[in-house]
Amino acid sequence: MGQDVANKNGFNQSVPQWIQSLSRVKLLEVISSPDGPLARQVIEQADLIRSETMGAEVHLRGLVEFSNYCRNNCLYCGLRRDNRQISRYRMSPAEIIQAAEHGAQLGYKTVVLQSGEDPAFSGEIMAEIIREIKKLGLVVTLSMGEREPQEYQLWRDAGAERYLMRHETADEALYDRLHPGQTLAKRIFLLKTLKSLNYQVGTGFMVGLPGQTAETLLADLDLARQLEAEMVGIGPFIPHPSTPLGKDPGGTLEQTCIMVALIRIFLPYALIPATTALGSISTLGRESALRAGANVVMPNLTPRIHRADYQIYPGKICLGEEAAECRGCITRRITDIGRTVSDGPGHHPKWSPGS
Ligand code: 5AD
Ligand code: SF4
Ligand code: FES
Repeated sequence: MGQDVANKNGFNQSVPQWIQSLSRVKLLEVISSPDGPLARQVIEQADLIRSETMGAEVHLRGLVEFSNYCRNNCLYCGLRRDNRQISRYRMSPAEIIQAAEHGAQLGYKTVVLQSGEDPAFSGEIMAEIIREIKKLGLVVTLSMGEREPQEYQLWRDAGAERYLMRHETADEALYDRLHPGQTLAKRIFLLKTLKSLNYQVGTGFMVGLPGQTAETLLADLDLARQLEAEMVGIGPFIPHPSTPLGKDPGGTLEQTCIMVALIRIFLPYALIPATTALGSISTLGRESALRAGANVVMPNLTPRIHRADYQIYPGKICLGEEAAECRGCITRRITDIGRTVSDGPGHHPKWSPGS
């Protein structure tokens, strides 16, 4: 029955048949029992697959959170427009470029420019920022939410190679509830648009959202695979007190790690971050994800004065540390678990920039 996805990708023969065939019933069982013996097996296999497809290298991406203004009102997010409890900031183009320069000096090969959906950064302003950063020899990843296809095109032409925009949840009803005024169909359309523009595309989702089920999470994996996402970010939902979901329970380390492991099995060559959210709910959360199939970490490069204001969720780590300290800290953590920090651009192995 189940298609032999794994063997087609040349997995090691030791990967058990049931994982290779990805039987739905078994998958739902593992997702529902993230502490069980089956889950442990899945994580071991994912770690093995990661070492075969991607090796021991971990890719670091320096994250610049350049604006916390957002026109959206996602029910879970601390940056939602109705949250009057945070003070809003926008970095100037010069400050953004300076942060990228600092990243390059620290040894980063990629910078991720992330913001809320902030229309103040026009297509042209962003294109100019991207062109300047490209002069530094850095790979540019954007994470700015939903924009016009023409803007995505403009930024790709300016040199941006990657775009991160999680689908958040593949359950349409849940998506509607969590994202007033937004639709899952549009999100998927834009992710496909980004793919067609030859971006390396990152999707992803949160684990532990109120109303989410094992079925939903399986649909999340399926969607990421259908999209042939080059990157998949998976983090626990962390309730933010100044949002409508502030009193709901959050996702756990175990639930998140099993989803990281499964996405590695679904997409053997993907770039999968050990998310900051996971590091924020558990001291060794990122290490756990790196041992469950992840191979990317995104340390913070945002100037320290702004860090506390980029409060997507509470308890975010690295608020007090300078960029250099984070780089040192994460390097130690990576080598402590027997992995290496990559010195290359860390592109998806099947992506090429084109003409
Ligand atoms: N907890 C965890 N992750 C969150 N995000 C937004 N709000 C939260 C929260 N409360 C995630 C979303 C978004 C990414 C930038 O941060 O998945 O895509
Ligand atoms: Fe805005 Fe993104 Fe937060 Fe939604 S998740 S409110 S789009 S910053
Ligand atoms: Fe920022 Fe450890 S990664 S302090």
